[in-house]
Amino acid sequence: MTTKGLTAVLAGATGLVGGECLRQLLASPRYGRVIVVTRRGLGPDLQHDKLREVVAEFARLGEVKSQLRGDHVFCALGTTIRKAGSQQRFREVDYEYPLRLAQLTLRNGARHFSVVSALGACRSSPFFYSRVKGEMEEGLGQMGWPSLAILRPSVIAGERAESRPLERLSEHLLRFAPATWRPVAARDIAAAMIATALREPPGIIVIESRDIGK
Ligand SMILES: NC(=O)c1ccc[n+]([C@@H]2O[C@H](COP(=O)([O-])OP(=O)(O)OC[C@H]3O[C@@H](n4cnc5c(N)ncnc54)[C@H](OP(=O)(O)O)[C@@H]3O)[C@@H](O)[C@H]2O)c1
Repeated sequence: MTTKGLTAVLAGATGLVGGECLRQLLASPRYGRVIVVTRRGLGPDLQHDKLREVVAEFARLGEVKSQLRGDHVFCALGTTIRKAGSQQRFREVDYEYPLRLAQLTLRNGARHFSVVSALGACRSSPFFYSRVKGEMEEGLGQMGWPSLAILRPSVIAGERAESRPLERLSEHLLRFAPATWRPVAARDIAAAMIATALREPPGIIVIESRDIGK
């Protein structure tokens, strides 16, 4: 069966940014198919002609590699050290899973990879979180993607089912901060990811928080 339009592969669709990506990709006339890969499925309420679901454990993503075939790949995976339970588990989700997804989809012929990193990502950072994000960016950068977009948002604003009081507090405190640190809306991040993907800029493009939503 042929698909009219582009095919997107999306990881993290059950999350805040990934959920926005999913809504916007399904609404976009440029994308004819959206392949969502999750560990637990999207649930029966979300159905759409363009939507294909692949349910898989990310630790064994290779088992579903033939289904991860698309033009553009969007990765909004992530956890917190508290949720993950250890630094090692956090690293698995925020470093190993994005790289695995990128390796498999690149081999399958994808042309553009877009990933949500974080403000201050740097492999030599004294902060573990920023260091892992920096290593993830570097790992992706070394893969030779024809087009790679790295977004580095500050605190992400949007409605979450789960309570994250520290993030909520930072969101309020940073509302009047300089643009570098100001919170950014999940929908603006998703929109920037999709707009960039549609341009397929060659090489690596880093989009800093202050430039998201402009
Ligand atoms: N929150 C912020 O203020 C902030 C600021 C800067 C950067 N970021 C980064 O932005 C990205 C997106 O953030 P977000 O707030 O949209 O994330 P989120 O709402 O927490 O969503 C995270 C996504 O990752 C998936 N995931 C987590 N652990 C997984 C695992 N073990 N196996 C498979 N999937 C897993 C979740 O799936 P399940 O639903 O199955 O758990 C969910 O789809 C993350 O990389 C985050 O580090 C966040």
